[in-house]
Amino acid sequence: MLDAVAVTRALGAAGCVAADEEAVELIRRAHDDDELERMLARRLTGEPLAWVTGGVSFCGLDVIVEPGVYVPRWQSEPLALMAARLLPPAGVGVDLCTGAGAIAMVMQSAHPDARIVATEIDSVAASCARLNGLVVYEGHLDEPLPAELESQVDVITGVLPYVPNDALHFLPRDVQRFEAPRALDGGEGGVELISAVVRTGPRWSKRGGWLLLEVGGEQVIGVTAMLAASGYRDVDVLEDEDGDPRGICGRLDR
Ligand SMILES: C[S@@+](CC[C@H](N)C(=O)[O-])C[C@H]1O[C@@H](n2cnc3c(N)ncnc32)[C@H](O)[C@@H]1O
Repeated sequence: MLDAVAVTRALGAAGCVAADEEAVELIRRAHDDDELERMLARRLTGEPLAWVTGGVSFCGLDVIVEPGVYVPRWQSEPLALMAARLLPPAGVGVDLCTGAGAIAMVMQSAHPDARIVATEIDSVAASCARLNGLVVYEGHLDEPLPAELESQVDVITGVLPYVPNDALHFLPRDVQRFEAPRALDGGEGGVELISAVVRTGPRWSKRGGWLLLEVGGEQVIGVTAMLAASGYRDVDVLEDEDGDPRGICGRLDR
């Protein structure tokens, strides 16, 4: 029979940096000893903890994350919280490339009367986001959004794939092994999808509406210029607790 010490030891020996916390989580989620053994065995292969346990906590919300679906990162929490702050109580929010839907969930949870919708190209992720209670349109970026949302959106969020194509091989080994390249690959310079969204944002944003995007530090200057060229003003950089740039936002001025 496995106890907390044995689970922690096994995880630590496999190189888990947060073995204590992961052990608690596995034990909390397992219904019996057999299930705990199976879950531990999967985690020891490097499979993401959220896929093994079935979910992750994001901004205090329980998000279902099915195997194969991008695991929402804690680093995206400040962007989600800012989006929720900027959204009027009965406003309209759109989360592009929603994955499991964590960011949209934060907006909806903060504003139950708001209309929140999401897009996602991967059908497994889209189903997962629906399990999390969201309205999801399947397709490329903003293309599947209903036309009635044109010029109506208060806040658009996007944690899009933004890893430069030629840097994918620098990602941690388990990320490369388990997570879908389509969830990560931002093309040349990492900004191919971001630039498309900045170009089409004004179609959906109402005047004064916000666009918030997660970006890498080396993308800030380029994306700032793109936002300005598309009519977004008050452009600001979102920094994480270490002062590193994590995102960018702007407000449509026309
Ligand atoms: C980096 S993940 C982020 C997911 C989610 N926003 C989050 O923060 O947890 C990017 C997501 O975009 C989806 N995706 C990739 N290309 C897309 C496209 N062209 N249109 C819509 N979704 C796309 C992927 O399937 C993946 O779920």
